[in-house]
Amino acid sequence: MGLCQSQQDYLQLVDTLNRHAHRYYVLDDPEIADAEYDQLYQTLLKTEEKHPHWITDISPSQRVADQPSDAFKQVQHKTPMLSLNNVFNETDMGAFYQRLVKRLEQADMHTDTIRFSAEPKFDGLALSLTYEHGRLVQGATRGDGQIGEDITHNVRTIASIPLQLLGDDIPDTLEIRGEVVMPKDGFERYNKSAEQRGDKTFANPRNAAAGSLRQLDPRITAQRPLEFYAYGIGLSNMTDHFDNHSQILNWLKSLAIPVHDSVTTLAGLSECVDYYQQLQTKRADLNIDIDGAVFKVDNLNLQNTLGFITKAPRWAIAYKFPAEEATTIIENIDVQVGRTGSITPVARLKPVTVGGVTVTNATLHNEDEIKRKDVRIGDTVFVRRAGDVIPEVVKVVKQKRPAGSQAFVMPTQCPVCGSDLYKPQDEAVWRCPAGLACDAQKKESIKHFASRKAMDIDGLGDKLVDQLIDAGLIDSAADLYHLTESQISGLERMGQKSAQNLLKAIKDSQQTTLPRFIYALGIREVGEATALTLANELKTIEAIEASSREELQQLPDIGPVVAQKIWAYFNNDANQQTIQALLDSGIRWPVIEQQDADNLPLKDVTIVLTGKLSQLTRSEAKQGLQKLGAQVTGSVSKNTDYVVAGTDAGSKLAKAESLSVEVVDEDWLMQQLSQQ
Ligand code: IVH
Repeated sequence: MGLCQSQQDYLQLVDTLNRHAHRYYVLDDPEIADAEYDQLYQTLLKTEEKHPHWITDISPSQRVADQPSDAFKQVQHKTPMLSLNNVFNETDMGAFYQRLVKRLEQADMHTDTIRFSAEPKFDGLALSLTYEHGRLVQGATRGDGQIGEDITHNVRTIASIPLQLLGDDIPDTLEIRGEVVMPKDGFERYNKSAEQRGDKTFANPRNAAAGSLRQLDPRITAQRPLEFYAYGIGLSNMTDHFDNHSQILNWLKSLAIPVHDSVTTLAGLSECVDYYQQLQTKRADLNIDIDGAVFKVDNLNLQNTLGFITKAPRWAIAYKFPAEEATTIIENIDVQVGRTGSITPVARLKPVTVGGVTVTNATLHNEDEIKRKDVRIGDTVFVRRAGDVIPEVVKVVKQKRPAGSQAFVMPTQCPVCGSDLYKPQDEAVWRCPAGLACDAQKKESIKHFASRKAMDIDGLGDKLVDQLIDAGLIDSAADLYHLTESQISGLERMGQKSAQNLLKAIKDSQQTTLPRFIYALGIREVGEATALTLANELKTIEAIEASSREELQQLPDIGPVVAQKIWAYFNNDANQQTIQALLDSGIRWPVIEQQDADNLPLKDVTIVLTGKLSQLTRSEAKQGLQKLGAQVTGSVSKNTDYVVAGTDAGSKLAKAESLSVEVVDEDWLMQQLSQQ
């Protein structure tokens, strides 16, 4: 975060920020990511602090907020819509907490540990709903916080917003505050169909939500998948009825106003940090975009004592996640050859930090995607990296396209082995037909073979596999088992010690399990779960090899496509030789016993399942137990041997206790199932 060195630089920055603010708020079509805007804005604030006499009244810091668009009627909020202060790390979150403690102590209101309402920070558009006598009469955007835009007609099209509140105890006037978001799946669907129609697409769900709400024609809004989540109230004469903010949210829920499932209450700093971390882990799985956690002092008295500082409450904080989006420039487009010959175009990027890591490559998925998004070398693009997902190019900033750029043309030959590429019917990807004769596919399949969930050869990373093949030391996975210390230690960056370690790891991997071995073969469509099914059901590699397509299809969760792929793999001479070579090189696994019914470990044992299990569904647990010979029944009696109680177990648990039936937990269950 820099500082402007001259007044001219400062004025230039003001100009830049104003331009971006307009693209963001008015056009819903930003050219830079939020985090980049924030960073520029911080530079502006710092510069203004250092050189107050430079401040111009058109600086974004000098206006209350953005002007509402004049296409909508303006409405005055009955209570202002405020904003939140942000923190970005644990230290600053701790400092926020300490400030609270200090202020409350000074006000003689110290509570032992401060209780909070913990909420997601929804990444959408703020909305104020006004209900009179329980009827929805107005929906308004935040605008400048005092005056917003009347978007009632559009708001009425959002299915989850009640037009009439439920219940009797409803104040004459009630302002409800919350956020409108577009769910991620709806956003994807919308962008796809917009593209097909040749309409404008959105860079992310937030812009899509904002763009949808600011439509002049509510019939268009009605077609957009929008959701609303409340996080508080504005005007009401109800605050005297409540002690805590969380009670207000629960009351809103009872009126039929949506409140998100992740909202909860907690106490103290460490619980806030835990909540933040858990929410971050859940972030990718949620169907809506969130960009942090919000912590609000739950007690309304304490809130009053703490009060506000300019436009934000002292009693609340937004603890933001690292940004998942950034803009950068595509320096080149290459194609990569995958393990199964798939050709994936990859954008080589000017390095940029996204989600806390430096990103230099982003997938462009396939030819159709490149065409759809019209991505070209030299383009400025939005890059997104969500959770563990591979970074991807989301959208091109067309305004920044350099003159004379050319559309990308897919190569017709494999960049590694030169074979003519082909595109199977019904597939979006081009493929190299050469199989293991193509060096790229060979390398990728050996990397997969050595990977953690496959043969788990510790220390054999991607670079080392490349080196071994490039040096001509191995040509197949089986060759790994014939490597010598002197061969390995001769490689760049490999000493004697690391060579010994690698040899040991390779040797250790010889003792494996059948599911790992099947998975390591890298059969198309056979992931870990399918490998496990094949091993558990058919017990030996010979039995798998001898199975017909029809027999394979009879197995749980194996459909015709997967059955065909498995059958084709095992009925190919080269693959048979690969398997034989691996077995000849010393790979072994424990024999899976053919269990006869009398020897099953849970024979004659009666079990009842109750409550929620975290690692598997109840029907999976039931099937697993039955395979071990157990009788799984629905009700508890004195003949029941065990009741497996998950979370929130109810009457069955109580009954078990009253009949003194042994109650066991999910760990016990998992232990039993691992005997399979
Ligand atoms: S409370 C007085 N809670 O963040 C406090 N705001 O930076 C008012 N937002 O304009 C805001 N999730 O649109 C609050 N759980 C949440 C929120 C939230 C998202 C947005 C809101 C507001 C902005 C403030």
